[in-house]
Amino acid sequence: MPQAPQTLELLEQEVRLHPVPAHVAIIMDGNGRWAEARGRSRVEGHREGSLSVRDVTRCARRVGIKALTLYAFSAQNWARPLTEVHALMDLLREYLESERAEILENGIRLHAVGDLDRLPGSVRGPLERLRADSAANTGMLLTLALSYGGQEELVDAARRLAEKVRAGKLEPSRLDAAAFHAELPTALLPQVDLLIRTSGEQRTSNFLPWQLAYAELLFVDTPWPEFRAQDLVRCLRGYQGRERRFGLTGAQVRSERVPPA
Ligand code: FPP
Repeated sequence: MPQAPQTLELLEQEVRLHPVPAHVAIIMDGNGRWAEARGRSRVEGHREGSLSVRDVTRCARRVGIKALTLYAFSAQNWARPLTEVHALMDLLREYLESERAEILENGIRLHAVGDLDRLPGSVRGPLERLRADSAANTGMLLTLALSYGGQEELVDAARRLAEKVRAGKLEPSRLDAAAFHAELPTALLPQVDLLIRTSGEQRTSNFLPWQLAYAELLFVDTPWPEFRAQDLVRCLRGYQGRERRFGLTGAQVRSERVPPA
C-alpha cells in the first residue's frame, strides 16, 4: 500500500526524537539560476529566496536548533552588477523590518557577522536596532553573514593577535585554539554541526572556514528558492543518520560516546 505523505508537523516531531544539530549553517545558493531557468530576473530569484529564509528559520526554531547562520551576502558579492547588489540590500532591509516583531516575540536573538560598515545605512540601521533589541533573548541565535568573508575574518584576527604580541600583551606560546576563537568577530558562534549548501554546487565559498572544521557537509540539488521547511527536515534526518567521530575510531565513539575535545 502506498505510504500517506507525512505532514510537516509529523516530520518535525520525528526530528525532535533524535539529537538535533546545535548549529546549522546554510549557503543559500541558486537564486539566480532558479530565476533564469524560468525566464525571470535574478532579483526575482532572490525575492523568492527570502521566502525560503522565513520558512526555514521558523522550522529551525520549532525543531530546537540553537544557532542558525545564513550566508546572505559575501564580501565578494559586492562585485556583482550594481542593480543586483541594490536589490539584495532592499530585500535585506525589508526582511529586517517585516520579521522584527516575529523575531522579538519568539525570543530569537539576531546577530550579524561580516564587514557591516560596508552596508548601506538603510540596512545597518534596522539591523543594529534589532541586534540591540534582541540581545538579551535566549532563544535561537539567528546570524546573518553579511559582507562576510572567512579568509578576511581569519586575517583580521591574526593581525590583531600579532599587534597584541608586539605590544607585549600576548605570549605566543599561550595562543591556542580557544584563544584564537575568542579573537574572532564570530566568537559568539559555536562550531558548526551541519553545513547545508543548496543548488548542487559542492564547495564552501569562504564561509566560516574556522567554524566548519568538524561540520557535517550536506549538498542538496534543490535551488534555494524551492528549499523550504520540509527540505530542512530532510537534511536534519540525513545528519541524524551520520556518525561523527572527531578523529576517534567508530568503536570508540559508539562505546564511550566521547565528547569532542
Ligand atoms: C546565492 O545565489 C545567493 C545570494 C548571493 C544571496 C542570498 C540572498 C537571499 C536568499 C535573499 C535575501 C536574504 C535574506 C536574509 C532575507 P546566487 O544568486 O549566487 O545563485 P546562482 O548561483 O544561481 O547565480
